Amino acid sequence: MKLCMIGTGYVGLVSGTCFADFGNTVYCVDRDTYKIKKLNSGGSVIFEPGLDEIIKKNFKAKRLLFTTNLKKAVQKSDIIFICVGTPNKKKSDQVDLKYVFSAVKEIIKASKSKKILITKSTVPVGTGDKIEKIIKKFRKKNIEVISNPEFLREGEAIRDFRFPDRIVVGSNNSKYFKVLKKLYQPLINKGAKFFTTSRRSAELIKYASNAFLATKITFINELANLCEKSNINIEDISLGMGSDSRIGSRFLRAGPAYGGSCFPKDTKGLAFTGKNFGVNLSIVKSVIRSNNDRKMLHTQNIKKILRTIKNKKIAFLGVTFKPNTDDMRDSVSLNMIPYLARRGAKVTYYDPTGSKENFAKIKNCEFVDSINDNCMNADLVILHTEWDEFKSLEFKKIIKKKKFSIYDLRNLYNLEEMKRKNIRYFSVGRPNHF
Ligand SMILES: NC(=O)c1ccc[n+]([C@@H]2O[C@H](COP(=O)([O-])OP(=O)(O)OC[C@H]3O[C@@H](n4cnc5c(N)ncnc54)[C@H](O)[C@@H]3O)[C@@H](O)[C@H]2O)c1
Repeated sequence: MKLCMIGTGYVGLVSGTCFADFGNTVYCVDRDTYKIKKLNSGGSVIFEPGLDEIIKKNFKAKRLLFTTNLKKAVQKSDIIFICVGTPNKKKSDQVDLKYVFSAVKEIIKASKSKKILITKSTVPVGTGDKIEKIIKKFRKKNIEVISNPEFLREGEAIRDFRFPDRIVVGSNNSKYFKVLKKLYQPLINKGAKFFTTSRRSAELIKYASNAFLATKITFINELANLCEKSNINIEDISLGMGSDSRIGSRFLRAGPAYGGSCFPKDTKGLAFTGKNFGVNLSIVKSVIRSNNDRKMLHTQNIKKILRTIKNKKIAFLGVTFKPNTDDMRDSVSLNMIPYLARRGAKVTYYDPTGSKENFAKIKNCEFVDSINDNCMNADLVILHTEWDEFKSLEFKKIIKKKKFSIYDLRNLYNLEEMKRKNIRYFSVGRPNHF
């Protein structure tokens, strides 16, 4: 099949590359000329394990093409996926669909023959209907709008795309299910469930799934607060609860406030959709509130650990919102680092994906290109992101100061071992705290 991905970001690039790897011809389109230039010269634009090799292989085979020319790419393709960003509007929880609608208009103007237009971007209930209205306004009849939300996770995107639990396709015209089934057949053959439904249902399934996972994280995070006050280890609670197959153990690990490119914006987007339809989604709203409060809790805890923040050397290990990605969107470090630097701390950070533009203008904040140099003079080390390379660190050997503390936001280290080594150690929802 001939496919076109509009938007070559985390979703468009990964899914486009994987579709090309199944033997389809895929045009990956982006407005960002720098990104397309880099991809065409063999450079990587995102950090995603395993992605670069598959890009190279399919690019060489001329099945995967990168272009800024949307018109040509659309005209050469039968199926067009919209994979552009859907952030929240500034100062509002409403989903900003300007990138989606602008892409839709460009696609309509470019298309001359029959096209299947698929929203892979996460879009609120009723967006497909609005796209259909735009198509009618342009008096085009041969563009069919389908919803096919994407469920991949950054850091595990290739595996998630190749082995999804389910593929959700929403259309009000069942004859298109066959076309999509053919496209996804390689995944269905490996056991993926092909789930067909109405277009609005598909749109809601994506928001509902993300909001539910965010709720699970928030639930265990609040219980972690209770555990800290009642001398209980949250890990026993996670294990005891998660072993119940009705509950499940995933997304039930206490840690920092959830972040990333999806959960924060999608919970807000769902609450706003509820408001639009006159429905109070009170659980989702309190999840958003609780998660926001949690961002402040980390910095309050740091104050308790250090007593005064001014002139203290604080070293962050990892700053991305999770390991195996370079994505900084809504990472908790974006709240913590500026807050600490403003209060006079000397903040340094190391991240396997390198320095971050987000901190470039912050006084008292510096990227250090090695774990040892970053931690050497620290009063406090904050384990922010659980990259594999942080799992077996010998802090007593790395840190030159006699008195230092570790604040482990991911419960990566063993409580007993830290005690045995006589390290002043703080973690999340575990005994002997603050
Ligand atoms: N990132 C994830 O893990 C993930 C997972 C599942 C779903 N989603 C959803 O997928 C969508 C895309 O997310 P992302 O993280 O890939 O976004 P992204 O910001 O990484 O990429 C979007 C890309 O679209 C490009 N773009 C915008 N308008 C364009 C236009 N008119 N023509 C060509 N290119 C255009 C931008 O330049 C950018 O490169 C969002 O709705 C998101 O919620 C994301």
